[in-house]
Amino acid sequence: MTLALLLALPGAEAATPLAPTVDLSGLPALGDAWREENPYRGNAQAIETGRSLYAQACARCHGAESLEPGPAANLRLVGLYCQRLADPELASRCTRDADYYFRTTVLEGKVRLGVEHMPPWTGVLSQEAIWALRSFIEAQRGAKP
Ligand code: HEC
Repeated sequence: MTLALLLALPGAEAATPLAPTVDLSGLPALGDAWREENPYRGNAQAIETGRSLYAQACARCHGAESLEPGPAANLRLVGLYCQRLADPELASRCTRDADYYFRTTVLEGKVRLGVEHMPPWTGVLSQEAIWALRSFIEAQRGAKP
């Protein structure tokens, strides 16, 4: 089902996705070392930058503004369960784990048995862009369950 849908998507077969044209210069620079946890969480500038990045790079598969249903997963759910953990230490580790999963998934894409369900974004999206996307998607959780 998923496979059939994605093979029908325009551009789904492209190995390297197009880089979004979004100005990232307003975001605090993060350097070369990849963070495990989103350093921009709740940052209004990152959320707005992430909104534009999402519209250009992710919306066609993951749904407009991460609110509408798309052919691919609802990204607002990634790590949402961490909020239900009562122990703050555990909740924080859970969120870090979900952040790490988010950024490694975006960098590596989703390829199984030779089928590219999602392209890898390594070399296309910077660390700043990926965490801005994560910040935007998380901020959208309040807009819709
Ligand atoms: C060509 C369609 C396509 C595009 C474009 C795309 N994705 Fe995906 N993405 C998918 C599919 C399909 C899956 C689920 C793959 C699977 O079955 O494992 C997925 C999975 C994910 C996951 C894992 C979700 C989970 O619940 O485990 C993350 C995170 C993700 N994408 C982020 C992004 C971001 C951020 C962008 C924009 C930069 C993006 N994707 C662009 C198709 C796409």
